[in-house]
Amino acid sequence: MIETGKSWRTDGDDITLVFVAAGRDEIDLAYLGPRLPDGEDLSALVRAGTFGLHENEPDAPRIGGLLPQAHDGYRGRPAYQIRSGKRQVDCGFQLAHIQADGPNMMATWVEKSTGLQVDMSWEIVGPRTVEVTMELMADDEGDILLESASSLSMPLPRHFTHMAAFSGRWAREMQAKTTRIGPQAIEMRSANGKPGFDAGNWLVFHGDDGQNNDADCLGIHTASSGDHLAHVVQDQDGRASLSIEARRQPGGISLNAGDFTDLGQVTLILSDNQDHLTQLFHDHVRTNVLPQRSDWIPRKVHLNSWEALAFDLDEAKLKTLASAAADLGIERFVLDDGWFKGRRGDDAGLGDWQVDEAIFPDGLTPLIDHVRGLDMDFGLWVEPEMISPDSDLYRTHPDWCLHDDRADRPTERNQLVLDLSREDAFAYIYQALVALLDNHDIAYLKWDHNRRLFPDNGLQQFAIQRLLGKLRQQYPAVEIESCSSGGGRVSFSMLQYCHRIWPSDNNDPIERLRIMESWTRFLPLEILGNHVGPSPNPITGRRTDMDFRAKVALFGHMGVETNPAVMSEDERAILRAHIALYKQWRDVLHGGAFRQLRHPESSIYGQMVLSGQRALAVVAQTAFAENFNVAPVRLPGLDPDTLYRVTLPKPWPQKSSAYLADPDAWESGFVLSGRALAERGLALPLTYPETAWLIAIEEQKS
Ligand code: GLA
Repeated sequence: MIETGKSWRTDGDDITLVFVAAGRDEIDLAYLGPRLPDGEDLSALVRAGTFGLHENEPDAPRIGGLLPQAHDGYRGRPAYQIRSGKRQVDCGFQLAHIQADGPNMMATWVEKSTGLQVDMSWEIVGPRTVEVTMELMADDEGDILLESASSLSMPLPRHFTHMAAFSGRWAREMQAKTTRIGPQAIEMRSANGKPGFDAGNWLVFHGDDGQNNDADCLGIHTASSGDHLAHVVQDQDGRASLSIEARRQPGGISLNAGDFTDLGQVTLILSDNQDHLTQLFHDHVRTNVLPQRSDWIPRKVHLNSWEALAFDLDEAKLKTLASAAADLGIERFVLDDGWFKGRRGDDAGLGDWQVDEAIFPDGLTPLIDHVRGLDMDFGLWVEPEMISPDSDLYRTHPDWCLHDDRADRPTERNQLVLDLSREDAFAYIYQALVALLDNHDIAYLKWDHNRRLFPDNGLQQFAIQRLLGKLRQQYPAVEIESCSSGGGRVSFSMLQYCHRIWPSDNNDPIERLRIMESWTRFLPLEILGNHVGPSPNPITGRRTDMDFRAKVALFGHMGVETNPAVMSEDERAILRAHIALYKQWRDVLHGGAFRQLRHPESSIYGQMVLSGQRALAVVAQTAFAENFNVAPVRLPGLDPDTLYRVTLPKPWPQKSSAYLADPDAWESGFVLSGRALAERGLALPLTYPETAWLIAIEEQKS
């Protein structure tokens, strides 16, 4: 028996968690906050945080805690729903063990009627970062179906009254919406085998509507590339609880005798303000998530053929495109969709990963040689998890797709899903990729995934991870970009194998600024692809200046996805100059501390990255300003007492540069203190829509 009121603490550099035995097998989270003094009296902390009873509640209320159970009057969402054989189990998890050791708390419960064991771990892995994992094991009898199983259940500290979630759709990912937490439960769920655009897997809890940067916040990510569910509700007495489920299998997880499953990993980061939360997320991703981040080579500028040529491919056109790309200073040529057998549109060919002889009579090698001869890397688009009904693969193996014999095979984008949980299909696709990589000089794969999974057998995400893991091991130098119709499958569980995500198919710079604002809250710039697309933009139809498009694309892993041959000489020169600037600044952009710049005008977006003695900022106006002269752009986060030389790197936005008060001085640079830059800021002409400025800030050597 674990004594009620007994408490445990775990500490990171900057945070403390206090857990308390609340009686009847419940463990509560008594404290989640900045690090407590070593001598803190935990018993006093717990008692001073406990409310007395009121007239209308059980004499010993159930609190749910870290493993809520649906009995004795608990009315929140239970952590588990279990069947054993035909019986719905009235779960009675008994707390068997709990220990806290340094940065780790581990607790074990055993369900009394089925013997199912739950091992829970809360581990502090960074100054303010916690990873929660749950492992479940069936006893010798097994026969258990986990109908639902939470990867994380926790009470929310009461000062978090609001939650920001990031849902969207194709070409409009990650639209932040903040909701007040209350008695109406908030539930976000994704279906069809991937996180999708529903994005309940990225959450931020605030003490207000999120507008105030300087307040505590708690960011939470669920590392699952399958479905997820996030549920938040507040009970009548004000206690709010969160539960997150990384749904492993649609019908539930079956456990036979001795079987074991984990429930994914949930990352929690607690911060004292939003900018810091972003930095902590970026640090965590760089240190703990990305594959060998410290060994990465500089992020090469891409030319991607998709919005340049789409399916209108042949060897000569691609060679011309590659030559034009090299002339702009591009360093990697990525051949997107349309290169493989029968793929003349999006209605055929997936699965036949052999080079199409109609467009490449001598294979891909002549094109690759041409690209390599121009001193660029070669990258290739693949969508290995899919199969087109109109493909040789499907004609030979019609049973290799995900399907249900009793139902139709509904296509999406004219395609079906290749069932990679089948060893034969897995072996085929693995060999096809090996053949491509062994026989060609390929430095990069753009790995796409363009449809939902139905029927979803729940096994696909594990098969993909296995496939990616094998390839990463065999070809450690090959970089992999994860795309899913843009940002439809972004999670730490994919990122552990990948070097880049494709945040959105939307390259319209105004839309992109909004989308990147959300992604950069969690992910660093070096893994966020950002491309200069055509004008008019093929998705939104909006026309924008090359200068604006190029400045927006510079903040990310820069690329070009339009055909230089259809640009004017002027546009090519502007793009070439921005590519050169990107190369000059990428070590800062991709290794420094990122922050959003806030401006009173909500149509102005700003970002700044600071690394050592150098910082680069972009400010971008997306609308026509209310006042002709907008408020000066403030640049917080620099050392207040250091002097910096501040310049506006050229090219400048043409129309707006006429309104600079002292153009020569902006070119040679003003010397200003970090304090002056943060407090007063810079008077930049940002009146016209689609105007952006780059601001270079370099420590002034005395
Ligand atoms: C998806 C991707 C695009 C492009 C096309 C090719 O839509 O998101 O970037 O690769 O597929 O078919």
